[in-house]
Amino acid sequence: MKKAEITAFLSLTFVLLVSFVLGILEISIIHTSGNLSRLTVDRAVFSVFGEYHVKLFSDYQVFAIEGSYGTGEFSEEKLTGRMKYYGAAGIEQDITGIQYLTDQNGQAFREQVLQYMEDKYGLSVIRGFTGLTSKWEEQALQGEEMAVMQMAQLIAYFSRAGENYFSGALRVVPVGNTEIAAGMLQQITGADLFKIDPLLPYAKDYNECIAQAQEDQRRGARPELRSYPDSLEPYDTIYLGYPNYWGTMPMPVFTFLERFDFTGKTIKPFCTHEGSGLGRSESDIRRLCPGAKVEKGLAIQGSSVKSAEDALRKWSQK
Ligand SMILES: Cc1cc2nc3c(=O)[nH]c(=O)nc-3n(C[C@H](O)[C@H](O)[C@H](O)COP(=O)(O)O)c2cc1C
Repeated sequence: MKKAEITAFLSLTFVLLVSFVLGILEISIIHTSGNLSRLTVDRAVFSVFGEYHVKLFSDYQVFAIEGSYGTGEFSEEKLTGRMKYYGAAGIEQDITGIQYLTDQNGQAFREQVLQYMEDKYGLSVIRGFTGLTSKWEEQALQGEEMAVMQMAQLIAYFSRAGENYFSGALRVVPVGNTEIAAGMLQQITGADLFKIDPLLPYAKDYNECIAQAQEDQRRGARPELRSYPDSLEPYDTIYLGYPNYWGTMPMPVFTFLERFDFTGKTIKPFCTHEGSGLGRSESDIRRLCPGAKVEKGLAIQGSSVKSAEDALRKWSQK
């Protein structure tokens, strides 16, 4: 049952508040120092109105009571009954107005408390920390927006070290092209890095790898990965890096994409290749991650990856 939420002004010096929120009010020390945080002030403001604290009344001549006497229906008699209980019956009373505590998001309530604290204790500093509740809401909203802006980014990439073609000749490299690009991007963005590593790696031998990758694609394999991120929850943007394998992503990248729900996230694909660019990888990503926003990908010539920094910077800042 919803209890009455009413503010009654009983006299100029005596404010009687009726509130259903009392249950959640907590007593805290009313700080009088200049470095009050808004949270502290808010708590202090509410604590002034904590029910059952007769001391608050005797010390501050202000307190809050439940004006329905537990019935959920406010009435003046019940209010007076409550006041007697608090020993306030002898006070000259003149009800000058009634307001719901929740009016304008509790602005009326706050205004009274702040005024009281200011008059009584000269706590003008409090104003600086409070102001209109609408302002607070605005600030809270801005805070949320900032939190969103500050969400983390992830670079998830697949890359293979070993034998590969460079300027028409086979060469063995200790670090794959996409891994080099991912490292540059990490330097630029500060994003977290995750390597999409299949449990059974493709062969270091180029021709063997070509055959394995083609076979995986032909049978629509989803090779198991060595590990997975615990969650992608903290990330709003995922840079997805991979080499072009037979016109699209290597199948372990499919495994990775199918593992998580990318709804609401932004995926930025970057691909190293030797002539086919991104191939059909972007449309494959869209198909695998229907809820994600898939941005225009960046294609990098694998054998020229070392000069890709500028392109990566420009693209990542778009
Ligand atoms: C199995 C395999 C398939 C490939 N298929 C293509 C392709 O279809 N088109 C293309 O342009 N390059 C293709 N390449 C070249 C790679 O995309 C390129 O060398 C890439 O930079 C390798 O990245 P990594 O060193 O990070 O593994 C292929 C390479 C391999 C090993």
